[in-house]
Amino acid sequence: MADAPAWNRHPDPFVELISADAIARRVNELGAQLTADYRDLAASGDVVVLGVLKGSVVFMSDLVRRVGLPVYLDFIGISSYGDATVSSGVVQITQDLTRPIDGRHVIVVEDIVDTGHTVHYLLENLATRRPTSIKLCSLLHKPERAERTIHIDYLGFTIANKFVVGYGLDIAQQYRNLPFIGYVKGS
Ligand code: IMP
Ligand code: MG
Repeated sequence: MADAPAWNRHPDPFVELISADAIARRVNELGAQLTADYRDLAASGDVVVLGVLKGSVVFMSDLVRRVGLPVYLDFIGISSYGDATVSSGVVQITQDLTRPIDGRHVIVVEDIVDTGHTVHYLLENLATRRPTSIKLCSLLHKPERAERTIHIDYLGFTIANKFVVGYGLDIAQQYRNLPFIGYVKGS
C-alpha cells in the first residue's frame, strides 16, 4: 500500500495502540472467518453487511474486500445523545436502511462496543424487522466499560479503558482518517 500522507502517518500527539499493519492482519482473519461461515448462505444473495455510521466506515470498507462472497452493503445512522465521550444509553436512528432485512442474514459492523448501550438498542431494533439471522462484528471491545452484556460474534481487538481514535473512530468528529488506532498522550 502507498504511504499515508505525512500528517496522518505520524502518531504524535497520539500513542499508537494498534498499528495499521496489525489492523490489516486482523481484518484479513475476520474476512476469512466470515467467508467460511457465510459461504453456504451467500449464494442466495441474502447476506447484508450493515455498517453503523460513521465509525465503522473505514473498517467495513477494508473488511468487505476480504470477504470472498457476494454481499449486499447497507448503512444505518445512529446517534447517542449526551456527552461526546460518555454513552447515555439514549439512542436515535438518524439514517435508516435502504432495503428491508426480513428473511436476510445480517452482519452488523460496528467500530467499538463500549458500554454496550448503542449495540444493545440497535440489535433489538433490527430484530423487530425479522431478519433470518443477525451477527455482530466489532473492531474493538472495551470490556471494562460494559454496562450491557453483548455477545460479539466477530471481534477485532479487546482494548483497555482508553478513549481511542483513528481507523474510523473519532473524537469530536476528528481523526477518523488516521490509519492506526491510538489514544491521546497522557489520557
Ligand atoms: P456504547 O457506549 O457501547 O454505546 O458506545 C457507543 C459509541 O460511542 C460507539 O459506537 C462509538 O461511536 C463511541 N465510542 C465509544 N468509545 C469510543 C472510543 O474510545 N473512541 C471513539 N468513539 C468511542
Ligand atoms: Mg459507533
